Amino acid sequence: MRQAVAIANSNVALAKYWGKRNESLNLPYTGSISITLAGLSTRARVRFGIERNHDRIVLNGEQAVNSPAYVIRQFLDHVRQAAGEKAAAELEIRSNFPVAAGLASSASTFAALALATTSALGLSLSPRELSALARRGSGSAARSIFGGYAEWLAGEADDGSDSYAVQLAAPEHWRLGVVVAITDLARKPVGSREGMAHALKKSPFFPAWLESHEADLAAVRQGILDRDLAVTGQAAERNCLKMHAASMAASPPLLYWKPATLAVMHRVLQLREEGTAAYFTIDAGPQVKIICPWPQRDTVAAAIREVPGVRSVLLSEPGGAAELVECA
Ligand code: DP6
Repeated sequence: MRQAVAIANSNVALAKYWGKRNESLNLPYTGSISITLAGLSTRARVRFGIERNHDRIVLNGEQAVNSPAYVIRQFLDHVRQAAGEKAAAELEIRSNFPVAAGLASSASTFAALALATTSALGLSLSPRELSALARRGSGSAARSIFGGYAEWLAGEADDGSDSYAVQLAAPEHWRLGVVVAITDLARKPVGSREGMAHALKKSPFFPAWLESHEADLAAVRQGILDRDLAVTGQAAERNCLKMHAASMAASPPLLYWKPATLAVMHRVLQLREEGTAAYFTIDAGPQVKIICPWPQRDTVAAAIREVPGVRSVLLSEPGGAAELVECA
């Protein structure tokens, strides 16, 4: 039996991936940039060559069914094909944060799976190759291979060979505080995959989202390289609002926000007026992630905890790359 265990962190996108030019290969229309989140991680244990015909996938203590099981099996088949392997696999995947509520569990899951599966099968992939592989499971996972700040290059090739992430900056380059406001723990009704496909087809604002993305991407990147929170933060807020505006304008509408989501956004704007540099972003769910200077994280977290409707607040910061913990 060959087995491996890998851990990867989740990430939060400051310039977002929202719209695919190729659905089966998870190829995006645009580049995206994220912070890899320390402490919000997924651990994947993979065993190949067990005495069974079918893969067994246990997700957070329960046998995976339906869409998650299907996507993970497809991913396994892809890795098996690359390795010339036929054996069934047993997978145990566990995340230490609320899954499927907009905290990007698919990103950390497929980054951990890319590393664990290829290590167990004796494939030695470069970080770039691992990133392209993780992308096949879930687009945002391409970025979670790297620590700190990662940029996923959209690429142009039809086969996706130039669509992978690179590290923009290490975690030590810029210690930002990331405050995560949990406003709702329910499983989101429309996942990212369906959400972006729907917005692409049904929103009259989608072309505007795509056209104006490049400028946000460039500003987020420059702000990170210069450690300029105002530049990165303003571009991230703008980009988030445009992604959500495009989705809300779809028919039928796609509205990820809860009342508490909006209340937190207002509180962040107010914090800025009071002199605290804090900026929000929201992925495909009701939670709000706030970036701020590291020394101000406690002030921001305390203010956000007071917002009516906020269930809990998590503290994070730029974290490390996906890591192989065990391989035998
Ligand atoms: C809003 O990576 O979950 O979080 O590629 O279909 O698995 P699939 O989508 P996924 O989408 C993430 C969307 C986002 C923005 C982002 O992370 O860039």
